[in-house]
Amino acid sequence: MEEFEKIIDESRQGEALMLEVNDAGKPKLYLESYGCQMNFADSEIVASILKDGGYATTKDFNEADVIFVNTCAIRDNAEQRVRQRLTDFKKAKKNNPELIIGVLGCMAERLKEKFLEEEKLVDIVVGPDAYRDIPNLLSRAEEGQKAVNVILSKEETYADITPVRLDSNGVTAYISIMRGCDNMCSFCVVPFTRGRERSRDPESILAEAKDLFEKGYREVTLLGQNVDSYIWAGGGLKKDIPAALDKGLKATSFAELLEMVAQIHSDLRVRYSTSNPKDMTDDVLYVMAKYENICKNIHLPVQSGSSRILELMNRGYTREYYEERILAIRKILPDCGISSDIITGFCTETEEDHQATLSLMEWADYDFSFMFFYSERPNTAAERKLTDDIPELVKKRRLAEVIEVQKALSEKKTKTHLNKTHRVLIERSSKRSDQMWAGRNSQNIVVVFPKGDLKIGDYANVWVDECTKTTLIGKAVN
Ligand code: 5AD
Ligand code: SF4
Repeated sequence: MEEFEKIIDESRQGEALMLEVNDAGKPKLYLESYGCQMNFADSEIVASILKDGGYATTKDFNEADVIFVNTCAIRDNAEQRVRQRLTDFKKAKKNNPELIIGVLGCMAERLKEKFLEEEKLVDIVVGPDAYRDIPNLLSRAEEGQKAVNVILSKEETYADITPVRLDSNGVTAYISIMRGCDNMCSFCVVPFTRGRERSRDPESILAEAKDLFEKGYREVTLLGQNVDSYIWAGGGLKKDIPAALDKGLKATSFAELLEMVAQIHSDLRVRYSTSNPKDMTDDVLYVMAKYENICKNIHLPVQSGSSRILELMNRGYTREYYEERILAIRKILPDCGISSDIITGFCTETEEDHQATLSLMEWADYDFSFMFFYSERPNTAAERKLTDDIPELVKKRRLAEVIEVQKALSEKKTKTHLNKTHRVLIERSSKRSDQMWAGRNSQNIVVVFPKGDLKIGDYANVWVDECTKTTLIGKAVN
């Protein structure tokens, strides 16, 4: 399963995130993050709140006054990893009894007081909508009081908090455009841990993107659990939209938001994630086609290729509907990269359903996928109404087959980029050689090439004539 871990886990899992501030005499925070891009974006909000509260950061948890772990609850193995880390951190308390340990994010929301009562692993528990309360919770914990805030909100979007960019390359940044999720996929814990879906004021999103561009950033990724259902009309809660429209307020859709961000500057690249097939409309695709600076890459998780399983998953679409969405992308954006998420071994999945997933992957010709075996999550509809009846060995064997298919597809896709010029935004030195720059093309594939006199944040036109399985190699031809 080593290989599988590498494929599903982005390199940042468990990374200690740093603030760049002058830290003389300030208490020190150690902040570690797990989970999705949204969680890493949330850590930047938390860092901003703590910076205002007078904290500096450290990369060494042994010298920290406060340790925070921003957690993920999506699969059991994500939670197990966090538990292990919390046990390590608790040991650090032996040397420093004043040390405060806090658990933030989705696992905090899921387990709530249990963390304090049963496990006694931590001093503070904070859910994703309660980060503004952290300074208060820290004071309570310092006084030895119970410090839990897991209240979910219908309004909180942290719109007015300027995130502190952690460990940033100064070129690429995430912007959260909405929070929560109303989809209720039967396998998923997110609606319970992140609460109701709400969109963020477009003005504050645009201001954040403009500010980043002025500071030298050249790529923003707009984040939401389901960006296609972004909507704002004087407020961001979907149920209030009809009344707002009746009052004559104008609504901003995701397509309109995307266009406004793209118009900030042609040198500001725009990406976004995640699309939900049931809500992805052609107007977004036409906006993407219109702007060169909107990257041609769509993450459109299918989860399963079997309509019967999709129904049990409550995904709101069939295989045929999904295929029609892929055809629309291929027609409107012929050079667009498409990636997916896949779950194997969901409740009642037969060999035939599994074959349907494999055939759909081939048909869709995905550039990339995140692939998982099903992990039952407490309180979800699947846990309450269905039986987790596929043996773990079968789930894992099917997963291995899914991974094999994707590997072959990705390798083939990489080769289609050979002998072409790619516009690449330079992000960092290549991991293999400090003589080479690394960046990504529009389709999100890493491209490396000799540095010459270019610098981080520049765009380079790179003629690609070599590749490994996943990386393109070439020379700048500016
Ligand atoms: N088990 C396995 N994978 C899951 N995902 C979400 N919930 C589960 C679960 N219970 C996967 C889905 C989703 C991605 C973020 O994580 O594929 O798109
Ligand atoms: Fe992100 Fe979902 Fe994990 Fe929460 S549970 S951190 S929303 S992936």
